[in-house]
Amino acid sequence: MDRLLVTGGARLDGAVRISGAKNSALKLMAASLLAAGTSSIENVPRIQDCFTMVEVLEHLGAVVAWQDGNMTIDTSAVSSYEAPYELVSKMRASIVVLGPLLARFGKASVAMPGGCNIGSRNIDLHLKGLENMGVTFGSEHGYLHANVGELRGAVIALDYPSVGATENVMMAAVAARGTTVVENAAREPEIVDLAQMLREMGARIEGEGSTKLEIEGVEGFSPTAHRVVPDRIEAATFAIAACITQGDVTLKEAVAAHLDMPLAKLSDAGAVIETLDDGLRVSMERRASAIDFVTLPYPGLATDIQPILMALLATSEGTSIVTENVFESRFMFVDELKRMGADIQTEGHHAVVRGAERLSAAPVRALDLRAGAAMVVAALSADGVTEIGDMHHVDRGYEDLEAKLSGLGAQVSRERGSV
Ligand code: UD1
Repeated sequence: MDRLLVTGGARLDGAVRISGAKNSALKLMAASLLAAGTSSIENVPRIQDCFTMVEVLEHLGAVVAWQDGNMTIDTSAVSSYEAPYELVSKMRASIVVLGPLLARFGKASVAMPGGCNIGSRNIDLHLKGLENMGVTFGSEHGYLHANVGELRGAVIALDYPSVGATENVMMAAVAARGTTVVENAAREPEIVDLAQMLREMGARIEGEGSTKLEIEGVEGFSPTAHRVVPDRIEAATFAIAACITQGDVTLKEAVAAHLDMPLAKLSDAGAVIETLDDGLRVSMERRASAIDFVTLPYPGLATDIQPILMALLATSEGTSIVTENVFESRFMFVDELKRMGADIQTEGHHAVVRGAERLSAAPVRALDLRAGAAMVVAALSADGVTEIGDMHHVDRGYEDLEAKLSGLGAQVSRERGSV
């Protein structure tokens, strides 16, 4: 397993291009299944999760070509409707093929997902929503089997604005007979991106970005060309990295409107934020001040940013209170951060962070994708050389991380491990 060695103390300075959003690209790739023919998706980040989604699509019978950020997906020969365990267990987001496969074939078999170790992540809302549209589910030998004669439009009130459930329901509803209304829908920018691509393919959707979606089913979809929205979580990661090193970083292509809450919090902590024509500039001239924050579905502060922001607070001046509302057990990384001298006490889904003047480098592990990113950010300002193990978790979601950090002046290098 690879390790990243980070020598702390270098101030980040310069410009970095923000890649396409992982959490959008994966869903857009799945959406291509709706139309027989070749769709192209631009700005796809070359990260492990996207490679896994390529494998899922190829397993289904699609032909995928991927050069730089440009991917073409020919779904003409797709004839399988099964997402196998080897792939779903690598990446839980594979479940998002459920909706498009039901739309195209009226059936789907998807291995029950495993994935990130960040608490229980049920799929009950996906199933309830699709059941409302007439889908029946059975499970056998670890697989979920879904069947439907004809998808019917329905009123679906989600108990919680789940991103994945909203996406699966959307991708089935576009092909249902009649109109589907989704109440309490997720509002993330990635949902808006997906709705836009579906509309380009022929779908009729209104209300994306609000809590209520109205989808009128249509027959037949055509392939399209679509560009992935920039990754707001990657942008937030580099913004926080700029702050923790008291640096000055321009995030090219970052969309400020998708980052209202994290930018407001960074500004409270002392950052100076400037919106540019094609991105953002984030700088910080002093040690961050403590801030309190809670995670919530968008437009609230993203749970994916929580560990990374916590790394900043671990070195800030004062005491911060953090509340994690989206995923249980998303504080597991705290023990790793404590190994670097962070003073954090957790009680259920609350954490009290007493800022230390400086963290101290230590051997640590990336426990999951964003926990790993938090370790990298913490290491950037720590005293000494931090060795971060299990970097494969981070590689799932960050494109060219070392090159981007080095380009900003960080001292990072990778030690390749044997597999
Ligand atoms: C997506 C993102 C993930 C992000 C999360 C929340 C992708 C690939 N992943 O995950 O990075 O952290 O949104 O912004 O896009 N839940 C249920 N039942 C369900 C579905 C969800 O109880 O059927 C719960 C989950 O356990 C969790 C919460 O709802 O507590 C949020 O989950 P959800 O919004 O569905 O996240 P994902 O789509 O899995």
